Amino acid sequence: MNNDKNDLVKWSDTFSCGVKLIDEQHKELINIVNEMFMHVTGPRQNELEYLTVIIQKLVKYVKLHFATEEKIMKATKYSNYTEHKKAHDSFILFVIETIDEFSSGRKKSLYFFTRFLKDWIFSHIAVMDKSYFKYFKKIATRKEDGRLTISKYDVKAAVSA
Ligand code: FEO
Repeated sequence: MNNDKNDLVKWSDTFSCGVKLIDEQHKELINIVNEMFMHVTGPRQNELEYLTVIIQKLVKYVKLHFATEEKIMKATKYSNYTEHKKAHDSFILFVIETIDEFSSGRKKSLYFFTRFLKDWIFSHIAVMDKSYFKYFKKIATRKEDGRLTISKYDVKAAVSA
């Protein structure tokens, strides 16, 4: 059994991009990864049954999150949109392939898969997401209550479209 509390991840403000909706979605992704680590119990059949349930939740949530980011990036005319979207698309493909490999016994364990997710999510936030964080902060203006806003673009309408 590889269930190791050291693998659990805590939200930190260093992950914050300054857009509440995106921060909430990143927190939820961290929750899902932690939930998966808590289900690393060893017996392959149990893990496979769990994976078939959690994977639907994970893929659905990741797609929602990527779509939200992409709408905001497009609405704010972010110059690295295409490159960022490509990274999102390849991640989704890789997850789907990995699920197939896991189901057919070609991948080792739920632990292996969860470690991969954790590493990918954090390196993606640290590199690609961080670069749009910087852009958002550059184009943001401060509201009367002191909070930052990117009201120059109609982000709310873009996200709900
Ligand atoms: Fe937060 Fe680009 O994913």
